[in-house]
Amino acid sequence: MTNLLEVKGLIRRFGGLTAVSEVSFDVRKAEIFGIIGPNGAGKTTLFNVIAGHFPPSAGSVHFEGEDISGHSSDEIGRRGIARTFQAVHAFQQQSTAENLRRAEVIARRHNPLHYFTHRSASVAADLQDVARFIGLDKLLDAPAGSLSYGLQKILGYGMALMAAPKLLLMDEPAAGLNPSEKLEAGALIRRLRDERGITVLLVEHDMPLVMGVCDRILVINQGKPIALGTPDSVKADSAVIEAYLGEDYEFA
Ligand SMILES: Nc1ncnc2c1ncn2[C@@H]1O[C@H](COP(=O)(O)OP(=O)(O)OP(=O)(O)O)[C@@H](O)[C@H]1O
Ligand SMILES: [Mg+2]
Repeated sequence: MTNLLEVKGLIRRFGGLTAVSEVSFDVRKAEIFGIIGPNGAGKTTLFNVIAGHFPPSAGSVHFEGEDISGHSSDEIGRRGIARTFQAVHAFQQQSTAENLRRAEVIARRHNPLHYFTHRSASVAADLQDVARFIGLDKLLDAPAGSLSYGLQKILGYGMALMAAPKLLLMDEPAAGLNPSEKLEAGALIRRLRDERGITVLLVEHDMPLVMGVCDRILVINQGKPIALGTPDSVKADSAVIEAYLGEDYEFA
């Protein structure tokens, strides 16, 4: 099976508003897949439905061939889907190591079986190993609150990695980062896939980052899919250019 995630005809309504309208796409194993679209397009809603924060109004989400539509976020986490958050969420008074350990304890409690089967595989969720991978191994004793905003976001990625996910949902990983931190975040996203085999689904407004790291990109506008393809094909798509008209985006 090459598709890790399959989203079919997904609809999510809020009262009379259709935030996500008939969205379908597949994410292949070890792919970096981006979702972009203007403000209010429905990206976060789509993401939240996949992560189990609320159920779809119609349509389905399959993970590893199994229907996970409407399952709780805990159940979805147990299956090997983790997410990172747009805002930093590390405990400020606790050290880097304590934050990673806390994430490990939560992952273990949620899912002992998945956790241990993964530990024995190449993607072992070992604290030192994760800290080295994200470049925070020299800052294990530093309180999270003493780290820069960018490093706290990186710590958030490490916390998600402690669950040894198969699929990582990243919510605006570049938001709030300075230009050099954005480059580092892009490199880290690539290494997640290249070195750990983790499949990445990311929602992001930063076009250079999205275009630089994604294998394929889904563009949605007003809840509806308008384009799906490689960065180059999406950049050249007239419907995409029209959707972004008047918005200050650079398709670098
Ligand atoms: N919990 C909710 N209840 C009601 N309406 C919602 C809810 N969540 C999102 N919406 C509405 O759904 C639409 C899509 O919102 P969503 O947050 O998914 O957009 P987005 O593409 O993530 O936008 P942005 O790029 O600004 O983050 C908006 O009109 C929003 O107001
Ligand atoms: Mg959003």
